[in-house]
Amino acid sequence: MLRDQAYLLRKLSNSTSSLRRQSRVVTIASGKGGVGKSNFALNFALSLVALGKKVVLIDLDIGMANIDILMGMAPKSHLMDMIRQKKSIWDVLEKGPNQLEYLAGGSGFSHLHQLDEEERNYFFRELEKLHGYADIILIDTGAGLTLESQQCHLSADEVILLTTPEPTSIADAYSVVKILHSQRPSLSFQLLINRVSNPKVGMEVAGKFKSAVQSFLNKEIKIFGAIPDDVSVTQAVLKQEPFTLAFPRSSAAATIKRLAERFVSGTTETNEQGGIKGFIKKLTRILDK
Ligand SMILES: Nc1ncnc2c1ncn2[C@@H]1O[C@H](COP(=O)(O)OP(=O)(O)OP(=O)(O)O)[C@@H](O)[C@H]1O
Ligand SMILES: [Mg+2]
Repeated sequence: MLRDQAYLLRKLSNSTSSLRRQSRVVTIASGKGGVGKSNFALNFALSLVALGKKVVLIDLDIGMANIDILMGMAPKSHLMDMIRQKKSIWDVLEKGPNQLEYLAGGSGFSHLHQLDEEERNYFFRELEKLHGYADIILIDTGAGLTLESQQCHLSADEVILLTTPEPTSIADAYSVVKILHSQRPSLSFQLLINRVSNPKVGMEVAGKFKSAVQSFLNKEIKIFGAIPDDVSVTQAVLKQEPFTLAFPRSSAAATIKRLAERFVSGTTETNEQGGIKGFIKKLTRILDK
């Protein structure tokens, strides 16, 4: 083959590889527990899938099986099986509704620290296989800002921070920003107010939160939006079906769909330090401290 042809072919294959999926890592955070993280994570993931995105939803609320229950599923295997039984990530990724890919938390350890070095390396090696495979890797975390979830947020490309309009929930969410910001000032936050009585209240709460963060922490956070308090969410939880599928015309479902559209259209490029590879690199650095 002529040298110029070989060069051209290599260039072409490089440009296709740059079209590989971004694998942005987005974590879901809250201060206070029970504010709607898992319901949001699941339904947001499904709405992103409906927009043609390849999404892997990871339940890092290990031992709690929150998302399994919300989907009415009993996963065959989970994250801990992957690590302990040296399974491949492709063997433990479950298919949820509408082909959503999902990695269940399972139980057996509660902290990444409890993994020995070999187990941790194995976990990260398998996780890294998602590079170029998924557009968005959405990570749900448990109640409260545990050390574990803190480390994940600090390693992510973006944190979606959920709070309800209740003062206790807001104060705890503010603490989350304060703690994470002090450790990684460049961390990007999207603020989401859940269970609002009307959109105006949601935007008011979000605006006040944003300006408090601006004045006291000198940090810019983005306002993602507000989700209405909607009885369909509770009804769907009881039916063990995601509310966007059980009640697609409910106001909560319509809002989540709009948020997903906005998220997809506003997604910035993942830089060299980002994506699942960047996530693992940052997490390793934090865990080794
Ligand atoms: N928009 C909403 N409208 C009405 N109810 C809601 C809404 N969002 C959440 N809920 C209620 O809050 C409950 C808790 O939600 P969820 O389990 O998603 O919270 P969580 O933040 O993941 O909790 P944890 O911190 O324990 O993991 C749901 O079972 C549902 O009843
Ligand atoms: Mg949860």
